[in-house]
Amino acid sequence: TVDNITALREQVRQARLNGRRIAFVPTMGNLHAGHMSLIATARQHADFVVASIFVNPLQFGPNEDLDSYPRTLAADQDKLAAAGCALLFTPTDALMYPNGMDNHCLVHVPEVSEGLCGGSRPGHFDGVATVVTKLFNMVQPDLAVFGEKDYQQLTVIRKMVSELNIPVQIIGAPIVRDSDGLALSSRNGYLDAAQRKTAPALHGCLQQSVARIRSGRRDYAALLQQAAQELTEAGMQPDYLELREADSLQPANADSRRLVMLAAAFLGNTRLIDNIEFDVQ
Ligand code: PAJ
Repeated sequence: TVDNITALREQVRQARLNGRRIAFVPTMGNLHAGHMSLIATARQHADFVVASIFVNPLQFGPNEDLDSYPRTLAADQDKLAAAGCALLFTPTDALMYPNGMDNHCLVHVPEVSEGLCGGSRPGHFDGVATVVTKLFNMVQPDLAVFGEKDYQQLTVIRKMVSELNIPVQIIGAPIVRDSDGLALSSRNGYLDAAQRKTAPALHGCLQQSVARIRSGRRDYAALLQQAAQELTEAGMQPDYLELREADSLQPANADSRRLVMLAAAFLGNTRLIDNIEFDVQ
């Protein structure tokens, strides 16, 4: 584990001198099997895997869970070591934002940052794009792995890397779920026992909608309204439910062939997200 850029770059430089390909997996810690699957994917593509843990204040809104976000460094270090991660980078707020939270460069990725989670969390993707740019410049990896669970985030990163000519290959990794379908998330830990029982309804609702589309329904507006109602009846408060074209996140129409259905919903104060990417004939 290193917490400064000099030590980080020295280790990465040595690995590269030894002919290693460098993969990077940025995280906010409290690692679960979803994060560990990214490490496994990274190991398939590279022979020196760097992870980072940084709870990025810039991507949290004023009323969000920055202070209560779970911090479990010792357990995370054990998991990363066991999974064959070579190096963990744990920068401090002062290293990332040396001039404070009101005086820093900001990376804005237009269009794909708007709507969906960007609509409910203003500034969130500027915070993500900025910190990922900084982390890429610090680590200087050959490739980086991101989860499809945060589908819009992956889309934002791909566009940013392409448009800013950042020489890092971006690899998407599939969503890891619990046996009842709930996508693994550090925020699942906020749920009480009753909420945890309700939570798989989010994935269930997406699955059911996708099945309806696959069996021929194309009245998407009505279908989304029905899905929101069913989610509410199941005990969740929908934030958004949308159908978009996969990859571009452009609005879907009846002729779109590769789609993604994305949803966010609250259980009490906990906001959960999920999505399913699929083809229609
Ligand atoms: P965090 O929420 O810790 O997630 C780190 C990475 O793990 C992201 O790429 C996310 O998509 C992936 N991930 C989380 N749960 C997953 C699951 N169930 N299956 C597959 N992948 C999963 O995303 C962030 O941190 C931050 O925004 C970050 C990119 C680190 C920038 O601060």
